[in-house]
Amino acid sequence: MINFDFKSTNYFDNNYLDFDSCNTKLNKYDMIGWTNNISINPNIDKMVTKVKRNSSVLVVVGIGGSYLGSKAIHDALSYYFDDKFEVIYCGYSLSNNYLTDLLNYLENKDFSVDIISKSGNTMEIKLAYNMLLDYMKTRYSDEEISERIFATTGTSGFLYDEAIKHNYFRFNIPEDFGGRFSMMSDAHLFPLAFNININKFVQGYNEFNELEKSFEYAGTRVSMFDNKKYVENFVSFEPKYGMFLEWIKQLFGESEGKDGKGVLPFSTIFTRDLHSLGQFIQEGNKILFETFIVVRNNNDLKIGSHDMNEVNNKIVDAVREAHYKGNVSINMIELDEANEYNFGYLVKFLMYAAAYSGILFNINPFDQPGVEVYKKEIRKRLNEE
Ligand code: PA5
Repeated sequence: MINFDFKSTNYFDNNYLDFDSCNTKLNKYDMIGWTNNISINPNIDKMVTKVKRNSSVLVVVGIGGSYLGSKAIHDALSYYFDDKFEVIYCGYSLSNNYLTDLLNYLENKDFSVDIISKSGNTMEIKLAYNMLLDYMKTRYSDEEISERIFATTGTSGFLYDEAIKHNYFRFNIPEDFGGRFSMMSDAHLFPLAFNININKFVQGYNEFNELEKSFEYAGTRVSMFDNKKYVENFVSFEPKYGMFLEWIKQLFGESEGKDGKGVLPFSTIFTRDLHSLGQFIQEGNKILFETFIVVRNNNDLKIGSHDMNEVNNKIVDAVREAHYKGNVSINMIELDEANEYNFGYLVKFLMYAAAYSGILFNINPFDQPGVEVYKKEIRKRLNEE
Protein backbone atom coordinates (compact mmCIF):
# COMPACT_ATOMS: atom_id res chain seq x y z
CA MET A 1 0.00 0.00 0.00
CA ILE A 2 1.19 3.51 -0.79
CA ASN A 3 -0.02 6.75 0.72
CA PHE A 4 0.37 9.96 -1.30
CA ASP A 5 0.12 13.35 0.36
CA PHE A 6 0.71 16.55 -1.63
CA LYS A 7 -1.07 18.98 0.69
CA SER A 8 2.07 20.91 1.53
CA THR A 9 2.77 21.82 -2.10
CA ASN A 10 -0.77 22.13 -3.30
CA TYR A 11 -0.99 25.57 -4.85
CA PHE A 12 -2.75 23.92 -7.74
CA ASP A 13 -5.55 26.16 -9.01
CA ASN A 14 -8.07 26.14 -11.81
CA ASN A 15 -5.80 27.90 -14.27
CA TYR A 16 -4.27 24.60 -15.35
CA LEU A 17 -5.67 22.05 -17.74
CA ASP A 18 -8.18 19.76 -16.02
CA PHE A 19 -7.75 15.99 -15.59
CA ASP A 20 -9.98 14.97 -18.51
CA SER A 21 -8.40 17.41 -20.98
CA CYS A 22 -4.96 16.29 -19.87
CA ASN A 23 -5.89 12.65 -20.56
CA THR A 24 -7.33 13.58 -23.94
CA LYS A 25 -3.99 15.18 -24.83
CA LEU A 26 -2.02 12.23 -23.44
CA ASN A 27 -4.01 9.76 -25.51
CA LYS A 28 -3.08 11.58 -28.71
CA TYR A 29 0.60 10.68 -28.34
CA ASP A 30 1.98 7.55 -30.06
CA MET A 31 4.45 6.69 -27.29
CA ILE A 32 1.99 5.48 -24.68
CA GLY A 33 2.29 1.69 -24.96
CA TRP A 34 3.37 1.73 -21.29
CA THR A 35 -0.15 2.85 -20.22
CA ASN A 36 -1.57 -0.56 -21.24
CA ASN A 37 -1.66 -3.68 -19.10
CA ILE A 38 1.58 -5.62 -19.31
CA SER A 39 1.87 -9.36 -19.77
CA ILE A 40 5.19 -11.04 -19.14
CA ASN A 41 7.01 -12.54 -22.11
CA PRO A 42 7.33 -16.31 -21.40
CA ASN A 43 10.77 -16.31 -23.05
CA ILE A 44 12.13 -14.36 -20.09
CA ASP A 45 11.85 -17.34 -17.78
CA LYS A 46 13.31 -19.70 -20.40
CA MET A 47 16.31 -17.46 -21.06
CA VAL A 48 16.96 -16.89 -17.34
CA THR A 49 17.10 -20.67 -16.88
CA LYS A 50 19.45 -20.99 -19.86
CA VAL A 51 21.83 -18.31 -18.57
CA LYS A 52 21.85 -19.73 -15.06
CA ARG A 53 22.83 -23.09 -16.53
CA ASN A 54 25.96 -21.86 -18.35
CA SER A 55 26.97 -18.65 -16.55
CA SER A 56 27.61 -17.29 -13.10
CA VAL A 57 27.39 -13.66 -14.20
CA LEU A 58 25.09 -11.67 -16.49
CA VAL A 59 26.66 -8.51 -17.91
CA VAL A 60 23.96 -5.97 -18.79
CA VAL A 61 25.04 -3.35 -21.32
CA GLY A 62 22.80 -0.27 -21.47
CA ILE A 63 22.60 3.45 -20.82
CA GLY A 64 19.89 5.95 -19.84
CA GLY A 65 16.41 4.52 -20.14
CA SER A 66 17.87 1.18 -21.22
CA TYR A 67 19.52 0.43 -17.88
CA LEU A 68 18.39 2.80 -15.13
CA GLY A 69 15.05 1.08 -14.53
CA SER A 70 16.33 -2.43 -13.93
CA LYS A 71 19.34 -1.24 -11.95
CA ALA A 72 17.04 0.89 -9.78
CA ILE A 73 14.63 -1.92 -8.95
CA HIS A 74 17.41 -4.47 -8.66
CA ASP A 75 19.21 -2.40 -6.03
CA ALA A 76 16.08 -1.33 -4.19
CA LEU A 77 14.76 -4.86 -3.73
CA SER A 78 18.00 -6.72 -3.06
CA TYR A 79 19.73 -7.28 0.24
CA TYR A 80 22.82 -5.17 0.73
CA PHE A 81 24.91 -8.32 1.14
CA ASP A 82 23.89 -11.66 -0.27
CA ASP A 83 24.81 -14.36 -2.76
CA LYS A 84 22.20 -13.58 -5.40
CA PHE A 85 22.88 -14.30 -9.07
CA GLU A 86 25.46 -11.72 -10.12
CA VAL A 87 24.23 -9.06 -12.53
CA ILE A 88 26.82 -6.47 -13.55
CA TYR A 89 25.95 -3.28 -15.43
CA CYS A 90 28.22 -1.64 -17.98
CA GLY A 91 28.00 0.67 -20.99
CA TYR A 92 26.60 3.55 -18.94
CA SER A 93 29.96 5.33 -19.03
CA LEU A 94 33.14 5.30 -21.08
CA SER A 95 35.47 4.78 -18.14
CA ASN A 96 38.59 2.94 -19.36
CA ASN A 97 39.19 1.87 -15.79
CA TYR A 98 35.74 0.36 -15.36
CA LEU A 99 35.87 -1.53 -18.65
CA THR A 100 39.38 -2.85 -18.02
CA ASP A 101 38.53 -3.91 -14.48
CA LEU A 102 35.39 -5.61 -15.77
CA LEU A 103 37.35 -7.77 -18.24
CA ASN A 104 39.83 -8.67 -15.51
CA TYR A 105 36.99 -9.58 -13.19
CA LEU A 106 35.37 -11.82 -15.81
CA GLU A 107 38.65 -13.65 -16.43
CA ASN A 108 37.83 -16.85 -14.54
CA LYS A 109 34.06 -16.69 -14.77
CA ASP A 110 31.56 -17.97 -17.28
CA PHE A 111 29.23 -15.18 -18.29
CA SER A 112 26.45 -14.11 -20.63
CA VAL A 113 25.72 -10.64 -21.96
CA ASP A 114 22.49 -8.73 -22.52
CA ILE A 115 23.03 -5.78 -24.87
CA ILE A 116 20.17 -3.28 -24.54
CA SER A 117 19.60 -0.39 -26.90
CA LYS A 118 16.26 0.60 -28.35
CA SER A 119 17.83 2.49 -31.26
CA GLY A 120 20.60 -0.08 -31.48
CA ASN A 121 23.01 2.68 -32.45
CA THR A 122 24.07 4.32 -29.17
CA MET A 123 27.83 4.89 -29.15
CA GLU A 124 28.50 3.79 -25.55
CA ILE A 125 26.65 0.54 -26.21
CA LYS A 126 28.40 -0.22 -29.48
CA LEU A 127 31.80 0.28 -27.86
CA ALA A 128 31.01 -1.93 -24.86
CA TYR A 129 29.50 -4.57 -27.15
CA ASN A 130 32.56 -4.62 -29.40
CA MET A 131 34.85 -4.87 -26.39
CA LEU A 132 32.91 -7.77 -24.90
CA LEU A 133 32.59 -9.53 -28.25
CA ASP A 134 36.35 -9.32 -28.83
CA TYR A 135 36.97 -10.65 -25.36
CA MET A 136 34.43 -13.46 -25.75
CA LYS A 137 36.19 -14.56 -28.95
CA THR A 138 39.26 -15.32 -26.82
CA ARG A 139 37.17 -17.48 -24.52
CA TYR A 140 34.31 -19.07 -26.49
CA SER A 141 33.58 -20.54 -29.92
CA ASP A 142 31.30 -18.60 -32.33
CA GLU A 143 28.47 -20.98 -31.51
CA GLU A 144 28.91 -20.48 -27.78
CA ILE A 145 28.99 -16.72 -28.25
CA SER A 146 25.67 -16.86 -30.07
CA GLU A 147 24.24 -18.75 -27.12
CA ARG A 148 25.64 -16.27 -24.60
CA ILE A 149 24.71 -12.92 -26.16
CA PHE A 150 21.17 -11.52 -25.97
CA ALA A 151 20.17 -8.46 -27.96
CA THR A 152 17.35 -6.34 -26.58
CA THR A 153 16.43 -3.77 -29.18
CA GLY A 154 13.92 -2.38 -31.67
CA THR A 155 13.44 -3.64 -35.20
CA SER A 156 16.34 -1.90 -36.93
CA GLY A 157 19.80 -0.48 -36.21
CA PHE A 158 23.30 -1.81 -35.62
CA LEU A 159 22.36 -4.08 -32.72
CA TYR A 160 19.41 -5.56 -34.59
CA ASP A 161 21.66 -6.28 -37.59
CA GLU A 162 24.28 -7.89 -35.34
CA ALA A 163 21.61 -10.08 -33.74
CA ILE A 164 20.43 -11.32 -37.12
CA LYS A 165 23.98 -11.83 -38.41
CA HIS A 166 25.21 -13.79 -35.36
CA ASN A 167 21.90 -15.41 -34.46
CA TYR A 168 21.60 -13.88 -30.98
CA PHE A 169 18.38 -14.39 -29.09
CA ARG A 170 16.38 -11.16 -29.42
CA PHE A 171 14.13 -9.41 -26.93
CA ASN A 172 12.07 -6.60 -28.43
CA ILE A 173 11.55 -3.08 -27.07
CA PRO A 174 8.17 -2.03 -28.47
CA GLU A 175 8.14 1.05 -30.68
CA ASP A 176 5.64 2.85 -28.42
CA PHE A 177 7.76 2.52 -25.24
CA GLY A 178 10.27 5.39 -25.00
CA GLY A 179 13.53 4.63 -23.12
CA ARG A 180 12.53 6.18 -19.80
CA PHE A 181 9.02 4.70 -20.07
CA SER A 182 10.33 1.20 -20.85
CA MET A 183 10.52 -0.17 -17.29
CA MET A 184 7.90 -2.85 -18.07
CA SER A 185 9.50 -3.96 -21.33
CA ASP A 186 11.87 -6.92 -21.67
CA ALA A 187 14.74 -4.40 -21.49
CA HIS A 188 14.23 -4.32 -17.73
CA LEU A 189 12.14 -7.37 -16.94
CA PHE A 190 14.73 -9.82 -18.32
CA PRO A 191 17.67 -8.63 -16.16
CA LEU A 192 15.36 -8.19 -13.18
CA ALA A 193 14.00 -11.73 -13.45
CA PHE A 194 17.35 -13.14 -12.28
CA ASN A 195 16.74 -11.98 -8.73
CA ILE A 196 13.38 -10.22 -8.46
CA ASN A 197 9.80 -11.53 -8.51
CA ILE A 198 8.72 -9.84 -11.73
CA ASN A 199 5.20 -11.28 -11.49
CA LYS A 200 4.49 -9.24 -8.38
CA PHE A 201 6.28 -6.22 -9.85
CA VAL A 202 4.13 -6.30 -13.00
CA GLN A 203 1.01 -7.00 -10.93
CA GLY A 204 1.60 -3.84 -8.87
CA TYR A 205 2.11 -1.88 -12.09
CA ASN A 206 -1.04 -3.26 -13.73
CA GLU A 207 -3.15 -2.64 -10.63
CA PHE A 208 -2.16 1.02 -10.28
CA ASN A 209 -5.48 2.86 -10.33
CA GLU A 210 -4.82 6.34 -8.95
CA LEU A 211 -4.41 8.37 -12.10
CA GLU A 212 -5.90 11.40 -10.38
CA LYS A 213 -3.15 11.23 -7.75
CA SER A 214 -0.52 11.30 -10.51
CA PHE A 215 -2.33 14.25 -12.00
CA GLU A 216 -2.51 16.03 -8.64
CA TYR A 217 1.22 15.49 -8.12
CA ALA A 218 1.99 16.72 -11.65
CA GLY A 219 -0.12 19.81 -10.97
CA THR A 220 1.69 20.59 -7.74
CA ARG A 221 5.05 20.35 -9.52
CA VAL A 222 4.00 22.75 -12.24
CA SER A 223 2.51 25.16 -9.70
CA MET A 224 5.73 24.96 -7.68
CA PHE A 225 7.64 25.96 -10.84
CA ASP A 226 5.24 28.85 -11.38
CA ASN A 227 6.00 29.92 -7.82
CA LYS A 228 9.73 29.98 -8.62
CA LYS A 229 10.48 26.65 -6.94
CA TYR A 230 12.63 25.36 -9.76
CA VAL A 231 14.26 22.38 -8.05
CA GLU A 232 12.65 19.24 -6.66
CA ASN A 233 14.73 17.34 -4.14
CA PHE A 234 13.76 13.65 -4.16
CA VAL A 235 14.65 12.20 -0.78
CA SER A 236 15.13 8.67 0.42
CA PHE A 237 16.22 7.51 3.84
CA GLU A 238 17.49 4.22 2.44
CA PRO A 239 20.85 4.24 0.58
CA LYS A 240 19.88 1.34 -1.69
CA TYR A 241 17.10 3.45 -3.24
CA GLY A 242 19.79 5.78 -4.63
CA MET A 243 19.47 4.32 -8.15
CA PHE A 244 15.69 4.55 -7.94
CA LEU A 245 16.14 8.29 -7.40
CA GLU A 246 18.47 8.32 -10.43
CA TRP A 247 15.72 6.66 -12.48
CA ILE A 248 13.23 9.29 -11.27
CA LYS A 249 15.67 12.06 -12.21
CA GLN A 250 15.88 10.75 -15.76
CA LEU A 251 12.11 10.25 -15.98
CA PHE A 252 11.28 13.83 -15.03
CA GLY A 253 14.45 15.50 -16.35
CA GLU A 254 14.20 14.12 -19.89
CA SER A 255 10.43 14.34 -20.05
CA GLU A 256 10.11 17.97 -18.91
CA GLY A 257 13.38 19.76 -19.54
CA LYS A 258 12.46 21.45 -22.82
CA ASP A 259 11.69 24.96 -24.11
CA GLY A 260 13.32 26.55 -21.07
CA LYS A 261 10.82 24.76 -18.81
CA GLY A 262 10.80 21.95 -16.26
CA VAL A 263 11.54 21.39 -12.60
CA LEU A 264 15.17 20.32 -12.11
CA PRO A 265 15.14 16.91 -10.37
CA PHE A 266 17.76 16.56 -7.68
CA SER A 267 18.26 13.81 -5.08
CA THR A 268 19.61 13.28 -1.61
CA ILE A 269 19.91 10.33 0.72
CA PHE A 270 19.16 11.11 4.35
CA THR A 271 20.45 11.04 6.97
CA ARG A 272 23.80 11.08 5.08
CA ASP A 273 23.16 14.33 3.21
CA LEU A 274 21.59 16.08 6.18
CA HIS A 275 25.20 16.45 7.24
CA SER A 276 26.19 18.12 3.97
CA LEU A 277 23.29 19.58 1.95
CA GLY A 278 20.74 19.74 4.78
CA GLN A 279 21.86 23.23 5.75
CA PHE A 280 21.29 24.58 2.23
CA ILE A 281 17.95 22.88 1.84
CA GLN A 282 16.65 24.35 5.06
CA GLU A 283 18.11 27.83 5.05
CA GLY A 284 19.67 28.47 1.64
CA ASN A 285 18.24 29.88 -1.58
CA LYS A 286 14.49 29.16 -1.57
CA ILE A 287 14.40 27.58 -5.03
CA LEU A 288 13.44 24.09 -3.98
CA PHE A 289 10.71 21.85 -2.72
CA GLU A 290 11.00 18.20 -1.73
CA THR A 291 9.41 14.82 -2.33
CA PHE A 292 10.12 12.21 0.33
CA ILE A 293 9.87 8.55 -0.65
CA VAL A 294 9.62 6.72 2.64
CA VAL A 295 9.22 3.08 3.59
CA ARG A 296 7.62 2.94 7.02
CA ASN A 297 8.19 -0.71 7.98
CA ASN A 298 11.64 -2.17 7.54
CA ASN A 299 13.39 -5.10 9.18
CA ASP A 300 13.17 -5.28 12.94
CA LEU A 301 16.42 -4.20 14.49
CA LYS A 302 17.12 -3.20 18.05
CA ILE A 303 20.23 -1.23 18.98
CA GLY A 304 20.40 -1.04 22.76
CA SER A 305 17.03 0.27 23.88
CA HIS A 306 16.22 1.69 20.42
CA ASP A 307 13.82 0.08 17.98
CA MET A 308 15.38 1.17 14.66
CA ASN A 309 12.03 1.24 12.81
CA GLU A 310 10.85 3.74 15.35
CA VAL A 311 14.08 5.73 15.15
CA ASN A 312 13.80 5.90 11.36
CA ASN A 313 10.18 7.02 11.47
CA LYS A 314 11.03 9.67 14.04
CA ILE A 315 13.87 10.90 11.82
CA VAL A 316 11.46 11.36 8.91
CA ASP A 317 9.12 13.39 11.10
CA ALA A 318 11.95 15.42 12.63
CA VAL A 319 13.43 16.30 9.23
CA ARG A 320 10.00 17.24 7.85
CA GLU A 321 9.42 19.55 10.79
CA ALA A 322 12.87 21.13 10.46
CA HIS A 323 12.37 21.70 6.73
CA TYR A 324 8.88 23.12 7.20
CA LYS A 325 10.44 25.56 9.66
CA GLY A 326 12.74 26.61 6.80
CA ASN A 327 9.60 27.07 4.61
CA VAL A 328 10.40 24.10 2.38
CA SER A 329 7.28 22.34 1.07
CA ILE A 330 7.33 18.55 1.13
CA ASN A 331 5.36 15.95 -0.83
CA MET A 332 5.05 12.60 0.91
CA ILE A 333 5.02 9.19 -0.79
CA GLU A 334 4.86 6.54 1.92
CA LEU A 335 5.11 2.80 1.24
CA ASP A 336 3.97 0.47 4.00
CA GLU A 337 6.79 -1.84 2.97
CA ALA A 338 9.43 -2.28 0.26
CA ASN A 339 8.26 -5.05 -2.04
CA GLU A 340 7.87 -5.77 -5.75
CA TYR A 341 4.16 -4.95 -5.78
CA ASN A 342 4.60 -1.51 -4.21
CA PHE A 343 7.51 -0.59 -6.47
CA GLY A 344 5.54 -1.66 -9.57
CA TYR A 345 2.63 0.49 -8.38
CA LEU A 346 4.92 3.44 -7.67
CA VAL A 347 6.64 3.19 -11.06
CA LYS A 348 3.35 3.62 -12.90
CA PHE A 349 2.30 6.46 -10.59
CA LEU A 350 5.54 8.28 -11.43
CA MET A 351 5.38 7.60 -15.18
CA TYR A 352 1.87 9.05 -15.35
CA ALA A 353 3.00 12.02 -13.26
CA ALA A 354 5.91 12.70 -15.65
CA ALA A 355 3.61 12.46 -18.67
CA TYR A 356 0.95 14.69 -17.11
CA SER A 357 3.39 17.33 -15.93
CA GLY A 358 4.97 17.49 -19.40
CA ILE A 359 1.50 18.08 -20.82
CA LEU A 360 0.76 20.73 -18.17
CA PHE A 361 4.04 22.43 -19.13
CA ASN A 362 2.80 22.27 -22.70
CA ILE A 363 5.78 20.31 -24.00
CA ASN A 364 6.03 16.83 -25.53
CA PRO A 365 6.95 14.53 -22.60
CA PHE A 366 8.04 11.69 -24.87
CA ASP A 367 10.86 13.10 -26.98
CA GLN A 368 14.45 14.03 -26.03
CA PRO A 369 15.76 16.28 -28.81
CA GLY A 370 18.73 17.47 -26.72
CA VAL A 371 19.97 13.92 -26.14
CA GLU A 372 19.69 13.23 -29.87
CA VAL A 373 21.90 16.25 -30.65
CA TYR A 374 24.65 14.97 -28.34
CA LYS A 375 24.43 11.46 -29.83
CA LYS A 376 24.74 12.89 -33.33
CA GLU A 377 27.72 15.06 -32.41
CA ILE A 378 29.69 12.14 -30.97
CA ARG A 379 28.89 9.92 -33.97
CA LYS A 380 30.24 12.68 -36.23
CA ARG A 381 33.47 12.93 -34.23
CA LEU A 382 33.95 9.15 -34.34
CA ASN A 383 33.32 9.20 -38.11
CA GLU A 384 30.31 6.94 -37.76
CA GLU A 385 28.04 8.88 -40.09
O1 PA5 B 1 15.06 7.83 -22.40
C1 PA5 B 1 15.68 7.81 -23.46
O2 PA5 B 1 15.11 7.76 -24.56
C2 PA5 B 1 17.20 7.80 -23.48
O3 PA5 B 1 17.73 8.02 -22.21
C3 PA5 B 1 17.70 6.45 -23.99
O4 PA5 B 1 17.14 5.44 -23.21
C4 PA5 B 1 19.21 6.35 -23.98
O5 PA5 B 1 19.77 7.42 -24.68
C5 PA5 B 1 19.66 5.04 -24.58
O6 PA5 B 1 19.16 4.90 -25.88
P1 PA5 B 1 19.13 3.51 -26.61
O7 PA5 B 1 18.28 2.59 -25.83
O8 PA5 B 1 18.58 3.79 -27.96
O9 PA5 B 1 20.56 3.03 -26.66
